[in-house]
Amino acid sequence: MKGETFHIETIEELTPVIQSLKKLCSAHSIFIVDGEMGAGKTTLISKVCLALGIKDKPSSPTYSIVNTYFSDEFGEINHFDFYRLEDENEAMESGLDEPFYNGSICFIEWAEKIQNILPEKVVNVKIEVLENNHRKINITL
Ligand SMILES: Nc1ncnc2c1ncn2[C@@H]1O[C@H](COP(=O)(O)OP(=O)(O)OP(=O)(O)O)[C@@H](O)[C@H]1O
Ligand SMILES: [Mg+2]
Repeated sequence: MKGETFHIETIEELTPVIQSLKKLCSAHSIFIVDGEMGAGKTTLISKVCLALGIKDKPSSPTYSIVNTYFSDEFGEINHFDFYRLEDENEAMESGLDEPFYNGSICFIEWAEKIQNILPEKVVNVKIEVLENNHRKINITL
């Protein structure tokens, strides 16, 4: 398995992580972003969306489950937060899984809620909170 590990001490130090994820967006479309509550999943995804050139201001999809953005360079970009979802059926009934298969870029928080309908080929981004609010971020392909 290929990958990269970053040690982050402040939000500003997320920049190389953001650049790395942006590069991966040329060849990959599904990104699972894991980490405990408050680990910084939404923060990282929002910053990556900005780096990808989305036209709207990013916000958390906590209540909407998905926020969809558009960038001239990368096309449709979806930011999912499945925390409030009951199960896979609910996602499929609402057609929420469609962007997984239409080539658009998807960043997914709380993917364990829909693990049975996730595509096979995904990039995993794992955020761990360490002492002193430092973070370890692992990207695996
Ligand atoms: N790399 C970082 N360094 C320091 N603080 C951070 C970092 N990333 C996020 N934070 C702070 O942590 C808090 C929670 O961030 P965020 O909402 O992104 O977490 P989350 O993982 O999406 O949480 P949830 O599980 O509730 O969706 C925010 O106040 C944010 O500013
Ligand atoms: Mg979040």
